[in-house]
Amino acid sequence: MKPIIIANWKMNPASLKEAKSLFSAVSKKIKKTSSEIVFCPPSAYLFLFQKKQGFKLGAQNCHWEERGAFTGEVSALQLSSLGCSYIILGHSERRKQGETSETVKNKVNSVLESGLMPVLCIGESREQRDRGEEQKVLEQQILESLEGISQNKLKTKGLCIAYEPVWAIGTGMPCDPEEAQKMMLFIKKVVSGIYPLDKIKILYGGSVNSKNAEEYIKESGYDGLLVGGSSLDPEEFSKISKLF
Ligand code: PGA
Repeated sequence: MKPIIIANWKMNPASLKEAKSLFSAVSKKIKKTSSEIVFCPPSAYLFLFQKKQGFKLGAQNCHWEERGAFTGEVSALQLSSLGCSYIILGHSERRKQGETSETVKNKVNSVLESGLMPVLCIGESREQRDRGEEQKVLEQQILESLEGISQNKLKTKGLCIAYEPVWAIGTGMPCDPEEAQKMMLFIKKVVSGIYPLDKIKILYGGSVNSKNAEEYIKESGYDGLLVGGSSLDPEEFSKISKLF
């Protein structure tokens, strides 16, 4: 199976000019890869990626309604009409700003209804891990974010779940591949109680770079990677994409 490599640009870069040059540098370099490459730039730059070949397009968030009086929001359907096929949901940087599993659940539902692939982010904080609560936190995030979402909804697209320990994000301190594997098997165990596992892809995210990327796929057994900082470096990101 092709690994899914998602570039999460977050709120970068700072200007359209920089976004254009980053996009042109990256897209030239990633041509020969057998991975499924997904770019998730800020919504403001999505148009740059339209009609380009060789990769998929995604967004970093959406609203759960299709349209209406929701100032500042964008819907899954609108993102789909711009060519997006993946939407990252429940990223810890959004949960820190007040996003709850309840809103994430509504968003997962709407993304599936719009025919797109949700990338549900889950992960424990440093404090939760220090208290030995990591599995409890993951289980709760999974069950609450998917509550009431039937197997039938997953029939066409399926679902990606990204394990992103909060303490590994942007810190240069990635999760040890052995520990990451343990967490992946735990996620599978929880999810298998709700859905057939062949509908679920599990991704790792948190300080992924060209040196450690391979371990998560080949040793830990993840189906893909969610890459933040290294996706803003054309050299690094192309190296990661060519590993598989
Ligand atoms: P990072 O971010 O690769 O910079 O740690 C990952 C993410 O937040 O998705």
